[in-house]
Amino acid sequence: MKIGILISGRGSNMTAIVEAVQRGLIPDSDVAVVISDKMSAEGLVKAKERGVETFVISRNGRTREEHDALIIAELKKRNVELVCLAGYMRLLSCDFVRAFPNRILNIHPSLLPSFKGLDAQQQAIEYGVRVSGCTVHLVDEDLDHGAIVAQKVVEVLDDDTAKTLSARILEHEHALYVEAIRRIVGGNYEIVGRRVVFN
Ligand code: GRF
Repeated sequence: MKIGILISGRGSNMTAIVEAVQRGLIPDSDVAVVISDKMSAEGLVKAKERGVETFVISRNGRTREEHDALIIAELKKRNVELVCLAGYMRLLSCDFVRAFPNRILNIHPSLLPSFKGLDAQQQAIEYGVRVSGCTVHLVDEDLDHGAIVAQKVVEVLDDDTAKTLSARILEHEHALYVEAIRRIVGGNYEIVGRRVVFN
């Protein structure tokens, strides 16, 4: 299955996915392209170093729909069937979601539905929760909302800051995302209510 990855920054999840695919840990898959909306995204260099085609499509004053149409075209041109958001910092338009129905994944650094949106780890620290974690979910029209594919619980320690908690959650994000993609690519699942159930 051809995978397209969208990034805006560091690209550590993208790197984990690319390396997993290259090591054969996600059978029958290939990362066709990494697309960034930011020219400065560090992840672009990491993708190139690993031999993956990169593409920058800047926002440049385009509406969300115009910007997304360009991205959709590049993904379709490469026959991408599964889109993985990996630190992509822009909401997708309805057109984008409809172009890849139930075929867009995202990873979020909290146990959804808690702490949606930006700075989820900081939100967790401020709220005082004792556990947080990360969630892989299908993307729908609403922010951090689609059916849940996988979650991992990470303990919040007394002396955690947003930075230390983020680093600990990130270690688990990479493994969780790779495993979730492996299972989705495997294809033996159904969406039951708000949950992806693997058979
Ligand atoms: C990760 O924490 C991810 O959960 C969130 O954005 C961050 C991206 O980090 N959506 P990276 O670019 O994958 O290193």
